[in-house]
Amino acid sequence: MLIVLAGLPCSGKSTLALDLGRALKCAVLGVDHAEAAMWRAGVSQSAPTHHAAYLVVGALAAEQLAMGHDVIVEAVNGPEQARAQWRDLAAQMNADLRFIVVECSDDDMYRDRVEHRSRIEGFPEPTWDGILMRRAAFPPWIDERLTIDSVNSRPANVKAALEHLKEERPEPY
Ligand SMILES: Nc1ncnc2c1ncn2[C@@H]1O[C@H](COP(=O)(O)OP(=O)(O)OP(=O)(O)O)[C@@H](O)[C@H]1O
Ligand SMILES: [Mg+2]
Repeated sequence: MLIVLAGLPCSGKSTLALDLGRALKCAVLGVDHAEAAMWRAGVSQSAPTHHAAYLVVGALAAEQLAMGHDVIVEAVNGPEQARAQWRDLAAQMNADLRFIVVECSDDDMYRDRVEHRSRIEGFPEPTWDGILMRRAAFPPWIDERLTIDSVNSRPANVKAALEHLKEERPEPY
């Protein structure tokens, strides 16, 4: 199974990815981590590291799927091109594809999280204004998906995601 977590910056993707990865005992591959590592290695931020990071994570995910392992990839996955990459990978590897979109429905809580958390070394922190702009421009989803609200507790969200992943897909991709 290829499990793809998506959502705006600071919506709660990495948190759910790790909780779910622990529960499923499978690899969690974060596109931001791949990109931050490229920058730490001295690759210029003006190079196409964002696209490269999606491709690196795609290649690593393919290896996991080839071994017959479930894998979780997590990234904003805003552009259609990013979502298509996972559809294509799942089709190539004959994997069951599951999109899980994470959002935070309480703007006060969301803003507080944006302004008070710190994350990957060397990665720029998003601003609340930047997030509002990205939210307004976020492409709508056409894929079948589960939406998780990070207002809810982490255990409740892992439980909801696990229940969703246990369900048979009505039709293959
Ligand atoms: N269900 C939850 N309950 C409480 N806090 C949460 C929950 N989910 C996420 N958070 C908190 O919200 C903040 C953002 O979460 P996280 O880093 O997982 O977001 P993200 O979507 O991965 O962000 P980015 O795209 O910037 O990497 C963190 O401080 C995290 O601890
Ligand atoms: Mg993250």
